[in-house]
Amino acid sequence: MRVLTIIPTYNELESLPKTLGRLRKACPDVDVLIADDNSPDGTGDLADSFAAKDERVHVLHRRGKEGLGAAYLAGFAWGLERDYDVLVEMDADGSHQPEQLPRLLAASEAGADLVIGSRWVPGGEVVNWPLSRKAISRTGSFVSRFFLGLKTRDVTAGYRAYRASTLRGLDLGAVDSVGYGFQVDMTFRTARAGYSIAEVPITFVEREFGVSKMSGSIVQEAGINVVKWGLAARLETLRKKLGR
Ligand code: GDD
Ligand code: MN
Repeated sequence: MRVLTIIPTYNELESLPKTLGRLRKACPDVDVLIADDNSPDGTGDLADSFAAKDERVHVLHRRGKEGLGAAYLAGFAWGLERDYDVLVEMDADGSHQPEQLPRLLAASEAGADLVIGSRWVPGGEVVNWPLSRKAISRTGSFVSRFFLGLKTRDVTAGYRAYRASTLRGLDLGAVDSVGYGFQVDMTFRTARAGYSIAEVPITFVEREFGVSKMSGSIVQEAGINVVKWGLAARLETLRKKLGR
């Protein structure tokens, strides 16, 4: 199984070396692609210096901050072109512990088309998040489950392992979510296409360095889209019924 871990970065100068070091140690056979959006703090140059020393580390330089979704889509395309079997998503800030990656990979190898490292299943937890952030995340998952008819507990989760066949089976060109709504979008598309989704518990640890890129507009984009997608899906079901 050839595995590529994609790490999107925007101003992660302090966090990236730690996360990368831990990942290379915990999973030495896993390749890494850092997808940097031309970070003003020089994270892209730092990533280049790691790539120069380590043949398993690669860097994708993007022209500017275009959002998490766009960075991952570019990373997926890079990995699929190179025939990786599994494509992993991991935050740069240490929230997704590299030591827990083998758990995700085991579930992937066992056959799950998408594995989600989940905060909201038994055994999953969040360390050092204020109540407000927990509330946003749980509400986001609840609203998504309700409107989109999903069974997934952690719909917005960003620690994931996709089988290449899953990504190849989805129309990635149609994905236009910019912010974290991308995760909800991808969960919905994966479920609708009939792929299996497994959730494994993780311990999500809030970042020590740098700042979150979460913003009101990101939450808003996700919220509006979830309602839109939910209504569109119901309308389509209705149309099919009437058309018969
Ligand atoms: N290239 C790129 N471009 N990277 C980005 C961008 C962007 O526009 N925005 C954020 N990132 C990177 C960050 O540098 C970090 O590595 C990762 O994406 C996650 O960003 P954070 O800002 O640390 O996210 P968070 O901790 O607030 O959010 C977490 O929870 C969300 C909601 O559950 C993440 O796990 C998200 O993936 C998740 O959706
Ligand atoms: Mn974070």
